[in-house]
Amino acid sequence: MRPVVHFAPLQGYTDAIYREAHAQVFGGVESYYTPFIRIEKDGFRNKDLRDIAHRENQSIQVIPQLIAAIPDEFRRIASLFYQYGYRRADINLGCPFPMQVRLHRGAGILPYPHDVETLLNVIPEFPELKFSVKLRLGWNVAEEIQAIVPILNSHPLVHVTLHPRIGIQQYKGIVDLDGFSRFYESCSHPLFYNGDLNTLADIYAITGQFPRLRGIMLGRGLLAAPWLAMEYQAGKELSDREKKSKLRAFHALLAEEYGKSLEGGDHQILARMKTLWDYMLPDVDKKLHKKVIKSKTLLEYKDAVRILIDNTIF
Ligand SMILES: Cc1cc2nc3c(=O)[nH]c(=O)nc-3n(C[C@H](O)[C@H](O)[C@H](O)COP(=O)(O)O)c2cc1C
Repeated sequence: MRPVVHFAPLQGYTDAIYREAHAQVFGGVESYYTPFIRIEKDGFRNKDLRDIAHRENQSIQVIPQLIAAIPDEFRRIASLFYQYGYRRADINLGCPFPMQVRLHRGAGILPYPHDVETLLNVIPEFPELKFSVKLRLGWNVAEEIQAIVPILNSHPLVHVTLHPRIGIQQYKGIVDLDGFSRFYESCSHPLFYNGDLNTLADIYAITGQFPRLRGIMLGRGLLAAPWLAMEYQAGKELSDREKKSKLRAFHALLAEEYGKSLEGGDHQILARMKTLWDYMLPDVDKKLHKKVIKSKTLLEYKDAVRILIDNTIF
């Protein structure tokens, strides 16, 4: 079976509006993940609740992701997902953000297999939900995952996604394909590869090297080139004209939808739209890019984006 594409969760980027606009304009993605939902001192963040409640486009498959250190947190978040109508949940065992790691969540739990086991033992309490796990090779060293494999294998997971870095690398440095390969041989669940897939050639190289992959998960590569999944499905690159027209439509839809949903007015919409350019089209002309991110009004911003798209050869 040909590997499918999943859109990685990216806190601050892949919110509900982004996911829905991406699916509508580009597609090529089987499932989208929400950025991780966590419990804070005061409970859930309203922002997170809004994000998972936003289910206008029921035709796209959205998998909410939870991050938890202990069974109680896991139960509260899984119950929330169930209550909001979801029947899938992804468990984050890979986040390297210091705030989460300090709380023993995400990649911060990987050096403690006993705690991972205690956490995953909650899974049978939610027979209505199907779970997947997203993880790294470890926090400090890649060998940490060896003690985690039997725990993963003992649970009925839909799939596992491995990002073959360790937590202390954050998102930098080379991916450890030997580490991925060892996991590929020992994990009994359908497996997704995630990490640094930025071009069609990158995707073909990984799916060629690991032919039993159930799928690939694209993150920053898809933020940078939102047509990448679509191109992979089509088996060919989009033309310059198609890319321009899709980009214009995507951008217009995002501006319209953020305009409807953000209560802070133009200033807030402008700030949100600018964050798109943290990752989108990294190779674009620097001057055109600067004009976009330095624009002071929404009008100025839209004009700068129009000029950038008109004057770029994709
Ligand atoms: C800004 C940012 C936010 C992220 N937020 C999440 C998150 O909420 N949950 C998660 O599992 N991974 C998160 N990740 C990790 C990505 O999902 C992905 O694993 C990572 O970027 C590597 O894949 P890529 O090279 O395709 O981007 C985040 C990464 C970045 C850079």
